[in-house]
Amino acid sequence: MAILGVESAIFGVDDVAQCGKFWTDFGLTAVSLGPEECVFEVMSGSKVVVRRRDDVRLPAAYADKPGVRETIWGVDTAEALEKLVANLAGDRKVRRDADGTAHFFADDGMPLGLRVWNKRSVLSQPDPVNAPGKIQRLNLHRKWRQRAIPKTINHVVFFAKDYVASLEFFINRLGFRYSDHSRGAGAFARADGTNEHHSIFFVSTALPMAPDQPGFMHIAFGLEDIDELMLGVNQMHAKGWKNISTNSSGGLSRHRISSAIYYYFDNPNGGEAEYHADTDYVDDNWVPRVWDWKFGSLLWATHTPSFWRAAKIEWDMQFDQDRASLEPFRGARTKAAKPPESVERLKPEDEHAI
Ligand SMILES: [Fe+2]
Repeated sequence: MAILGVESAIFGVDDVAQCGKFWTDFGLTAVSLGPEECVFEVMSGSKVVVRRRDDVRLPAAYADKPGVRETIWGVDTAEALEKLVANLAGDRKVRRDADGTAHFFADDGMPLGLRVWNKRSVLSQPDPVNAPGKIQRLNLHRKWRQRAIPKTINHVVFFAKDYVASLEFFINRLGFRYSDHSRGAGAFARADGTNEHHSIFFVSTALPMAPDQPGFMHIAFGLEDIDELMLGVNQMHAKGWKNISTNSSGGLSRHRISSAIYYYFDNPNGGEAEYHADTDYVDDNWVPRVWDWKFGSLLWATHTPSFWRAAKIEWDMQFDQDRASLEPFRGARTKAAKPPESVERLKPEDEHAI
């Protein structure tokens, strides 16, 4: 049994044409463009589907705002799909399409799908990096590109009232692997058939900048290296797209969690779209970690986050192979409840660092 990653992210939006233009400018390949629906894909075959918010093909709204309405996860074989569906059908309704796609709701109400996916292999050739005394390109210039071409959908992120329970549904019922935990802020898991550090991240709705309701936060697309990423950023800015919301405002940054370089754009489809490069790739030998969000969030950012100015950041990391760190954060949490001490000092402008 293996889930290979996001096969389709299906958005419900207000303006299909405007939202379609965003994805075209972002570098996705258009499969079909119409007034009711636009479909795009990346090299791996993962799709972004854009429909109107009131499209009858969409499941009931997960939150009262634009964003991903249904995430379809790709499964490697028909046998694996049927095994997953048989388990899910034991305690919930599973609706099947003629092509075998299964639709259901997670325990937290999130609409999900599963379908067999013939995931395409992806070709990348990031430029070797030169350093003093370590010459990997001699008389060779770096690659000249015309545009950024996203290769993969690396992860989707949702706010959750009980991020432990939301994560555990994916681990216990869909075979995901626990990756890491930002204590009190959220937790990460990876689909069992992929090596990206995380395929899904649940963020606590109790964070000061969170919407106090579950729903879509952002979607990340894998690029070859920092040059392709920043070319995409420059071209998006040239086309008028912004990164001014709290989550997008960090500019170019590198996480400590997952090591990835990233850059967000405000997304008319809802939440943010993330260019993502040089992430950690892990397998079942990975030992999950837990840390305070201030230590775990960033190695650096072009826009210095407020918490870096406010306090000395203590080095804080423990291994968490038995998931014990999740226990204190189990249960519903909203802004009405006292947020965990470790995230009390978060400010809205720190959101991009989570
Ligand atoms: Fe992300």
